[in-house]
Amino acid sequence: MTKTAIITGAGSGLGLEAVRDLVEQGWTVHGVDIPGSMANDVVESTSSNRFHPHFCDIRDAGAVAATMSAINLESGRVNALIASAGVLRLGPLAEMSVEDFDAVFGVNVRGLWVCVREAMPMIRRAADAGEVARIVLLSSVSALRPKIDSGAYSASKAAVSQLTRVLSVECAKHGILVNALAPGTVNTPMVNDLNEPGTRGNWRPSGPSPIGRIAQPTDIVRVMRFLLSEDAGYVTGTTIPVDGGTQAAFVPPE
Ligand SMILES: NC(=O)c1ccc[n+]([C@@H]2O[C@H](COP(=O)([O-])OP(=O)(O)OC[C@H]3O[C@@H](n4cnc5c(N)ncnc54)[C@H](O)[C@@H]3O)[C@@H](O)[C@H]2O)c1
Repeated sequence: MTKTAIITGAGSGLGLEAVRDLVEQGWTVHGVDIPGSMANDVVESTSSNRFHPHFCDIRDAGAVAATMSAINLESGRVNALIASAGVLRLGPLAEMSVEDFDAVFGVNVRGLWVCVREAMPMIRRAADAGEVARIVLLSSVSALRPKIDSGAYSASKAAVSQLTRVLSVECAKHGILVNALAPGTVNTPMVNDLNEPGTRGNWRPSGPSPIGRIAQPTDIVRVMRFLLSEDAGYVTGTTIPVDGGTQAAFVPPE
């Protein structure tokens, strides 16, 4: 039986790579992203009838509920939710605008939680049928080792990791496994857009890991694939760093 996933943030970066990977493996994928974000080339590059784009701002709980109802009508049960939608806003905590702070928590925490809540009945149905039932949330290395000028983002990702822990225990009896991934710097528009001069203040990306490079989206999606596999059947409640050792030990400046 074909497996079905919902991927938020499907129009870019890690979400987009996850769409490509799962469609290639034969999954049916419902991609959720803000209106206009999923460029035609995304839809065309995954032109199979197994990819279904949905346009929704996850800050709008009513819109998320409507989107999940539409997915429910199409698919009924869902084997995996990948919550990749996220935003990064920079600035010292004492100077950051309320709008930026709200954007970070509205998308990365509240929006993520609303997606989990609304998708849960469909994931429960997959679990009750004895199928794989998984939730993978995108945290960040910044949840484990925060940096200056991204305090709100780091706090939001720490919240994602805490939601992961509690949700995993609440869901365990239903046969649903919940984990988070904590990438270091990944080559995606979220980070690359900050290469423009004057866009990032004192904030710096973590940069090349001890392994000697930044991550490519496939580095993260391969671990996601493991979390969706039978091999991960005894893994739940974790935040797995996929950061090439970035936060493993402090490297003093030369
Ligand atoms: N790129 C990195 O270095 C990095 C590192 C650690 C964690 N992460 C996390 O991984 C996830 C994916 O990041 P990415 O690098 O692919 O970023 P990205 O900017 O390339 O993609 C994020 C996607 O989320 C969507 N999105 C934003 N706000 C939304 C909203 N309100 N409703 C619906 N969709 C919305 C965007 O439109 C975009 O398509 C994020 O949660 C991010 O915080 C990224």
